[in-house]
Amino acid sequence: MNQDAMKKAAAEAAIEYVEPEMIVGIGTGSTANHFIDLLAKIKGKIDGTVASSEASAERLRGHGIPVMDLNQAGDLSLYVDGADESNKHLHLIKGGGGALTREKIVAGASEKFICIADETKLVSVLGKFPLPVEVIPMAQSFVARQLVKFGGTPELRAGFTTDNGNIILDVHNLEIMQPEKLETQINMIPGVVTVGIFAHRPADVLILGGESGVRTITA
Ligand code: 5RP
Repeated sequence: MNQDAMKKAAAEAAIEYVEPEMIVGIGTGSTANHFIDLLAKIKGKIDGTVASSEASAERLRGHGIPVMDLNQAGDLSLYVDGADESNKHLHLIKGGGGALTREKIVAGASEKFICIADETKLVSVLGKFPLPVEVIPMAQSFVARQLVKFGGTPELRAGFTTDNGNIILDVHNLEIMQPEKLETQINMIPGVVTVGIFAHRPADVLILGGESGVRTITA
């Protein structure tokens, strides 16, 4: 089974969590795209969705699935999204697709966060995947200098602008031993919009597609 088939298997398992009349929070990326495509088959069952990116909103609308504004929708019962890395505590690194800020907002507004991924995303220590940090453009150099103090090597994601009009610094060479602490510390740097560590609001359920089927880990 290839990695994409594993992602699709995880997305299929997540569909089971969708209940009638829900407004479902939708993540961003190739795994979330599988979920969107599967959701299209049961779109009559739900009241609508809230998207974590313009790209996901476009894909949802393409399937004729209603996309609502979070301010209109209020708190959500379910959010489904992928991740770049997860540890066994379901602390995540997200933002490989650059949608980390809106993803963190929708995750925060949701009662249950189901993370869907292929099994290669489960790691013992977060940080091998370069940590995305969304930054206000004028603060790029200042924030980069602060990130170096945490032992990382920040690199500007070239030619990329977030849906919020900001830049991304991808921080290489981190070994994140205390995800909650580092999330707080990086979020406190002036000019940082969001860091892609999801530890204060981890996933509630991690569904991993793998060679031997689908595995579910709960927090
Ligand atoms: C986007 C994300 C994605 O969830 C993450 O990058 C995983 O992507 P994929 O499902 O394509 O492996 O955080 O900002």
